[in-house]
Amino acid sequence: MCGIIGYTGKKNITDELVAGLEKLEYRGYDSAGIAYCERGKLVTVKAVGRISELKKLTDGLRPDSSCGIGHTRWATHGKPTLANCHPHLSYGGKFAIVHNGIIENCRQLRLLCESRGISPISDTDSELIAHLLEMYFEGDLRKAADKVAGMLEGSFAVGILCSCRPNEIYAFASRSPLAIGEGRNFCALASDGNALSGAETLVFLKDGESALLRPSGAEYYRKGKRINPQSAPFSAASALSGKDGYAHYMLKETYEQPEAAARTIAALSGIKLRGALSFIGCGSSYHAGLSMLPLACHACSRPAQAQLAGEFLCSERVKSRGTTAVLLSQSGETADTVAAALEAERRACRTFAIVNVASSTLTRVCGAHAVTRAGPEIAVATTKGFTSQVVAVAAMLARGTLAESTERLPFIMEKALEAGVSDEAEEASRLLAISPNAFFIGRKADYGVALEGALKLKEITYIPALGLSAGELKHGSISLIGEGTPVVVVHTDPRLREKTLLTVASVRARGGFVIAVTDDRDVCAACDLAVRIPSSDPFLSPAVSVIPLQLIAYRAAVLLGRDVDKPRNLAKSVTVE
Ligand code: F6R
Repeated sequence: MCGIIGYTGKKNITDELVAGLEKLEYRGYDSAGIAYCERGKLVTVKAVGRISELKKLTDGLRPDSSCGIGHTRWATHGKPTLANCHPHLSYGGKFAIVHNGIIENCRQLRLLCESRGISPISDTDSELIAHLLEMYFEGDLRKAADKVAGMLEGSFAVGILCSCRPNEIYAFASRSPLAIGEGRNFCALASDGNALSGAETLVFLKDGESALLRPSGAEYYRKGKRINPQSAPFSAASALSGKDGYAHYMLKETYEQPEAAARTIAALSGIKLRGALSFIGCGSSYHAGLSMLPLACHACSRPAQAQLAGEFLCSERVKSRGTTAVLLSQSGETADTVAAALEAERRACRTFAIVNVASSTLTRVCGAHAVTRAGPEIAVATTKGFTSQVVAVAAMLARGTLAESTERLPFIMEKALEAGVSDEAEEASRLLAISPNAFFIGRKADYGVALEGALKLKEITYIPALGLSAGELKHGSISLIGEGTPVVVVHTDPRLREKTLLTVASVRARGGFVIAVTDDRDVCAACDLAVRIPSSDPFLSPAVSVIPLQLIAYRAAVLLGRDVDKPRNLAKSVTVE
């Protein structure tokens, strides 16, 4: 959550910082700000709301310095107000800082500041870092920063500007990603390497490392000593791309799914997942693991379970030698999932990350990893991230005819895109858009997809949607079903036909309006509205059946005039536990 940027070079600093923040806006978008030096003094420009609000204030500014830092916020400590917006200045105005992460011991640090007569003006944990820097500064920025970094508990990536060194940025990080990019006559930092287009090389700071950025390049330090970390060339292919004529990133990314799946299957088919499997993730990534359980357990005879990362962290610490904890994460930065990976290691599990961002934290903390080939995902609501995880698991588990069926998935996904724009799917969007609530149900692999369908609808339309195992409906939730309540039934496994037909009948008997997403003619006939999807192996169907659900939710959100790519209260990567 939150994105930080820094630049020192030759270009107009306000334009550079705002352009960088626009690329990071997916990480948080409730307020944004920048800081730079003007005639020896630190200046901040801040705005509540989207980066476009900040841009209105910075357009036309021509500061005399070409060095600065910026931040786009997803509120954790305190509301999105100007006072809470970064960059934060120290009490004497000597330091400006931007921070990504959470300072766990902020209460003690606030007391320490107050005991020295410093009254923070914001509710944030981050502001304290600025005050501490000025408190411990005795002329050497690096020494002061190292001292402050040593006092912080939690996760942090920090960029610092000091009025006495107006062309330099100092940065340090621990448990929060921070990339340093070097290019011709400039050096920059960002909490996502993809935002550093133009850089020739990238270095990701490891926990406890710091960097001093000058236009001529960066110096790196660990425990006060100079180090030479390995740099990687910046891959232009991974730079954040545009919408290519689509109205929204979510729509573009939905349509990219067959290709993303094909690339992922081709890249990962040679890799094998060993032992008993425990799929761990959050949100859609958890749903992807859940929907692949039948493949692991029934088709591949593996003991397997799916767990929410947050729940795994709270569960009894039992050693599970021989189990492979498969950490699923599009971003590879989700705090709960990263913490679960560390916890899984403590429980003697093998850890294997499936991520979409090759340079992400999870790849560094897990014993092994595989990278899906979805390409950058910008829309906050995941689409290709989900299906790439599903096909990645399939590619690494399926053998024989199932492996052949996996290879065919991208073609079937193409057809599922057509199902997603059928008249019936459009009708489903219209109905859902005017409904006060909705249900999504399914069994086995379809259960994970039902949860994902409900999540897609609620996160981008704000319509309360409940995802349930179809068998669970009768155990209480059916009391919510009345005349016209939309119930989306996902059905892809012919062995479950009779059960599905029974559930459909019991919903319709209570006035519910049943929308089927299925390839089954009998189920179609039994429902009020049917979105006919192409047939696929029931163990692999989540990569197919989810696609119409994404498009139905997308269209409902557009009908309601929602901000599809940046829904309220959300951010793309949740880097707080
Ligand atoms: C929903 C969504 C979230 C993420 C979750 C985990 O559309 O995107 O539920 O799936 O925050 O994120 P990653 O996969 O990056 O760990």
